[in-house]
Amino acid sequence: METLRLTDNAQSIKKASALINQEALVAFPTETVYGLGADARSDEAVAKIFEAKSRPQFNPLIVHGQSKEFLSNFVEFTPLANKLAQAFWPGSLTLVLKRKVDCPISLLVSAGLDSIAVRVPDHPLAQNLLRQSQCPIAAPSANRSGEVSPTSAEHVLGSLESRIAAVLDGGSCRVGIESTVVDLSSDKVTLLRPGGVAAEDIEAVIGPLARPSEDPTAPKSPGMLARHYAPNRPVCLNSSNFKEGDGILGFGPKAPKECLNLSPKGDLVEAAANLFAMMRQLDKPKFDRIAVMPIPNHGLGEAINDRLKRAATPQ
Ligand code: TXA
Ligand code: MG
Repeated sequence: METLRLTDNAQSIKKASALINQEALVAFPTETVYGLGADARSDEAVAKIFEAKSRPQFNPLIVHGQSKEFLSNFVEFTPLANKLAQAFWPGSLTLVLKRKVDCPISLLVSAGLDSIAVRVPDHPLAQNLLRQSQCPIAAPSANRSGEVSPTSAEHVLGSLESRIAAVLDGGSCRVGIESTVVDLSSDKVTLLRPGGVAAEDIEAVIGPLARPSEDPTAPKSPGMLARHYAPNRPVCLNSSNFKEGDGILGFGPKAPKECLNLSPKGDLVEAAANLFAMMRQLDKPKFDRIAVMPIPNHGLGEAINDRLKRAATPQ
């Protein structure tokens, strides 16, 4: 795939927004770092993000919106969330909030969780793209897994050239570090990741934040701080002999007819797109357990197997 390099003009914004609406990947500047954007409502488009980044895990992603009003179509704003949005948006603060019932955002965006991280970026090009496309855009930092976050279009191309449809070039990012992530989805308001907005400034608005990073037993990587969606039924991996009461999660052309098939044609991007929605469909009282067929461990298969292994480990 040839990666288009788009500069700051009306034509470019139109092109970038058309690509987003066609479920393609577009990297775009925000005030913090460049994001790797896709339509957050499309399972397929979001799966492509993980493929392009070669992420071995499905970390939950931030959904970017043009305004708080726009984002309130998807998540529940609590009184504290309203205060923070009022004080810091547009800007480098991400809020983790409860997903609304019937929220159209892909479950892959939040790795199956009932919460979604949302943010209104403070960058004219990001704002133009969000408004022109009228789309909630899921975007992690636009780098391959393990690399530092990009703060220029050159960094993005150095990492993702030929893996993405386009990059919108907005010069270098003003803030240069990722947004601060605050979890408001439970009673204990928690700082999940320090970032562009100082914790003290947030505390000046809503009072003290809990900080899991001060707990030496807490996981170090911010991505790992997210709770994980866990099915209620036991999960059995690499299954080939199925019994009555099995909710079967199939893969490929040889899967039994009565299963939910992640990808009848054996495509791992399609399988990733279906994973969380199908796990939820099988996590129903009519099944005794969820029996999963073997999934190849290359490409997105690695992230799928990582997720399934966690689901199979009793909490
Ligand atoms: O500045 C930024 O935040 C950049 C720009 C592009 O907006 N984005 C970014 O995304 O840094 P990413 O994917 O690299 O980091 C997202 C962070 C991770 O630490 C992730 O664990 C957390 O947000 N996160 C996302 N959704 C979450 C959720 N539902 N619950 C808890 N944490 C969540
Ligand atoms: Mg990142």
